[in-house]
Amino acid sequence: MLDRKRFARFGALITSTLGIQMPQSKLPLLENRLRGRLRQLGMATLDEYEAYLFHSPNAADEMVHFCDVVTTNKTDFFREPQHFKYLSGTALPTLMAEHRRPVTKLWCCGCSSGQEAYTLAMVASEFAGDNAGFEFSILATDISTRVLQQAATAIYSEALIEPISAEMRRKYLMRSKDRGRGLVRIRPEVRKTVRFGRLNLMDHSYGRRELFEVIFFRNVMIYFDRATQEAVVNRLAERLAPGGYLFIGLSESSVGMRVPLTAVAPSVLRRME
Ligand SMILES: C[S@@+](CC[C@H](N)C(=O)[O-])C[C@H]1O[C@@H](n2cnc3c(N)ncnc32)[C@H](O)[C@@H]1O
Repeated sequence: MLDRKRFARFGALITSTLGIQMPQSKLPLLENRLRGRLRQLGMATLDEYEAYLFHSPNAADEMVHFCDVVTTNKTDFFREPQHFKYLSGTALPTLMAEHRRPVTKLWCCGCSSGQEAYTLAMVASEFAGDNAGFEFSILATDISTRVLQQAATAIYSEALIEPISAEMRRKYLMRSKDRGRGLVRIRPEVRKTVRFGRLNLMDHSYGRRELFEVIFFRNVMIYFDRATQEAVVNRLAERLAPGGYLFIGLSESSVGMRVPLTAVAPSVLRRME
């Protein structure tokens, strides 16, 4: 049983480490997810698990698994499709017309199991096919090692590829030789345009001072409180090249945030200079 006091301790750890808000209503969800982790570890009680997570020599390693357990990783190919239309119809042509840099860099943060990053790769590949001289690279990051491993293998069930057009499936996906398994894999030429890495958006600095023309940061900050959202968006804005675009989720908002960005379309912000 996850009682209220223990929930408060786990919740405080989750909020301080990951930024994720933990209202009381999430108690049953957390309890359920921890039960699965206890089973994996062969532990009988939450007492034992709490001591392991907070005080054992394995605490740092367990924190990695704990992040896997507590994050919500729902995603899809071509989720919120209007953003991909905006990307190929407006953002990339604008960046190209302004002759910003030889290689357009895209960053998918909170990439989950890779569908968003590979959607970006397919859309950018299509754009490159129509626009000679356009080159791109994609960085995709998440806090959860479990989803990052899935993303790197790039194998998905056929049910998940429904949002991808038939033409793009033919170009960018391979079917498993064993048809009965119902699996597809992203083709190597698309896979090689994406590199995956683990990054906690709560970190005070995001490592190398690489700049990006496009950042997708969608359906992640919905779990953060307002102050954390504003701090993260400001840190991401620092990593946008001048003229770069930040995409946030369609149900997320930057209204009222003090950020050096201008709204240019629904849930699309731009760093003007
Ligand atoms: C709901 S998924 C969104 C996936 C994708 N961006 C989309 O819109 O389909 C949210 C992702 O954010 C990640 N996440 C949550 N907190 C994070 C943090 N502090 N740092 C990095 N990633 C985080 C989760 O692991 C999860 O994979």
